[in-house]
Amino acid sequence: MTKDKIVLGIESSCDETACALVNDKKEILSSVVWSQYDEHRQFGGVVPEIAARAHLEKCIVLIKEAMKKAGKTYDDLSAVAVAGGPGLIGGVLVGVMTAKAIAWARQLPFIAVNHLEGHALTARLSNPVKFPYLLLLTSGGHCQLLIVESVGKYKKLGGTIDDSAGEAFDKVAKMLEVGYPGGPNVELWAKKGNPKAFQFPVPMKGRVGCDFSFSGLKTAVRVCIEKQPNLTDTIKQDICASFQQAVIKQMSDRLDHGIEMFKSMYPTAKDLVVAGGVAANLSVRRMLEEKAQKNGLIFSAPPVNLCTDNGVMIAWAGMERHLLGISDGFDFKARPRWPLESL
Ligand code: KG4
Ligand code: ZN
Repeated sequence: MTKDKIVLGIESSCDETACALVNDKKEILSSVVWSQYDEHRQFGGVVPEIAARAHLEKCIVLIKEAMKKAGKTYDDLSAVAVAGGPGLIGGVLVGVMTAKAIAWARQLPFIAVNHLEGHALTARLSNPVKFPYLLLLTSGGHCQLLIVESVGKYKKLGGTIDDSAGEAFDKVAKMLEVGYPGGPNVELWAKKGNPKAFQFPVPMKGRVGCDFSFSGLKTAVRVCIEKQPNLTDTIKQDICASFQQAVIKQMSDRLDHGIEMFKSMYPTAKDLVVAGGVAANLSVRRMLEEKAQKNGLIFSAPPVNLCTDNGVMIAWAGMERHLLGISDGFDFKARPRWPLESL
């Protein structure tokens, strides 16, 4: 009997320290995520230096925990994967140096995973998604429509010209003081609100191509808040619901163009995937599901807990690379910027 291949994945590119072990049978052997919410809450956003120090404190502890939970030792590993960027460089460095040390000491392949590729490939762990597929990648740092042609091969159809969708959620949450982290709290407040209460603009609607823009929407929300003589909880809920609706309307419009382009390039391809932190939003997922149905596509999304940053996505993307015989040298440099199209 051949031994299962097992990859250890380490994620430390933003405000989550996370580790996981996955095997080549698509089983998650363990997954531990430590979110730094308490460290950053008082600042209303991630402070890079605080994040880096917190990663340093937690990284080894979490790796040990992930190994123990999986009931594995370093001898059982086939490779070590780490988010090599893009991200906050202090945190990325912590993960990369730790992964290199383990790989070097145990003579294992070292795999630097692009964090975005981690998001992009996770749906293939949870669902039978086939290449090529259309991907809406929407996180705190990015908002893009891409065709995932294979591991390491991405065709970008469009991206944001200013803020990402996650950033807009976070900024609206901050303006309304509904709590940190922003996205999940705005979604929570939106559930109780009326999405038709405020008519926010839908930037880019009707424009050719697949680019996104959220900065005008964010400004419209700010102006709306300033106009309220009394910002009651009901008004806050209505603003959250109306804002979320405007984000979804823009995504829907951009997807119409993206699907058209995808179908003309790959007439027999069938998969539509959403990934990244904002993909945890149930209203966003619902819109995509309907869109897929209307267009004869199959919709897939990672489970909600694998949409926001986690170690499983890095371990799995590492596994996909490992199975193709791809690894990186110990001279790999942590990268603050690393566009998917450059892979
Ligand atoms: O992928 P991710 O964990 O980190 C990055 O790679 O950026 O995404 C984090 C982003 C944050 O902006 C967060 O507010 C947003 O995803 N987010 C959400 C939800 N959960 C997380 N946005 C909307 N609805 C949610 N439920
Ligand atoms: Zn992410």
